[in-house]
Amino acid sequence: MSTDQLQAYAARYGEAAIPAGAGSGPWNPVIAGLLAHRSVRAYRPDPLPAGTLDMLVATAQSAATSSNMQSWSVVAVTDAATKAAMADVAGGQRHIEQCPLFLVFLADLSRHERLAAEEGAALEGLPFLETFLVAALDAGLAAQNAVVAAESIGLSTVYIGALRNNVERVAELLNLPPGAAGVFGLCVGYADEARSAEVKPRLPQPAVLHRERYDAAGEPVHRAAYDQALASFSARHEMSAYRWTDRALSRWGRIASLHGRDGLKQALRRLGFPLR
Ligand SMILES: Cc1cc2nc3c(=O)[nH]c(=O)nc-3n(C[C@H](O)[C@H](O)[C@H](O)COP(=O)(O)O)c2cc1C
Repeated sequence: MSTDQLQAYAARYGEAAIPAGAGSGPWNPVIAGLLAHRSVRAYRPDPLPAGTLDMLVATAQSAATSSNMQSWSVVAVTDAATKAAMADVAGGQRHIEQCPLFLVFLADLSRHERLAAEEGAALEGLPFLETFLVAALDAGLAAQNAVVAAESIGLSTVYIGALRNNVERVAELLNLPPGAAGVFGLCVGYADEARSAEVKPRLPQPAVLHRERYDAAGEPVHRAAYDQALASFSARHEMSAYRWTDRALSRWGRIASLHGRDGLKQALRRLGFPLR
């Protein structure tokens, strides 16, 4: 294993949980870039290189898309007032205002609705939960391609799922037609290195990788190890040292911590997704 490879795996899992086969496995700059991912929540105001938006959208559109339906869109937001309003929707996440480019990824069935109207045809498959899921998955895959591309040229990003706190306000701010909804945002910009983030460790591989059959027998041990790793990570970052277990209990322990997203189904229905 090269030193770079070893360090990348150690950062991702902690020294004690480096997967046994990883060191002898394939390695190249793309894999190194993926393993080095970190979300960034502090940005410099510096503008992006010319052509960045076009490149990001091209990489996003290069992602696989279910049945080639391409049922997603993206709204590029640079206007300060709109970003401030988005930050308010997201519970005051000020990095949305700091970043020079804020991308809002949409599950977008409206294009197909227009297509059907123009063709005088009915699309009986549109109103189903399955079709919304297809659109939301497509948006996620597209965005992740853009994230990888952005990071490969030295930019940083952070997803903003908190836009779903109020999808109707987001639709209003972006003038979305019925059948389009913001499923998450993405801050893009240069990291403020004074407040730079470290690679955040993940669960040990055996907690997520099952061979042939699902087997959760070792889970308590893996979770305890990860609790320790994440507690030291958060302590290093001047956050109170919290266990991943506590984070999970607080994140999904109470409806209030969904910040309004418990009403998402009804809100999406009002935005034109029947979710049958
Ligand atoms: C769909 C999605 C939504 C997210 N929403 C937010 C968000 O609203 N605010 C935020 O600060 N981070 C958000 N994140 C970032 C995660 O918190 C982050 O990816 C996770 O803690 C792991 O850290 P890392 O990306 O640095 O490895 C989101 C990530 C995803 C994939």
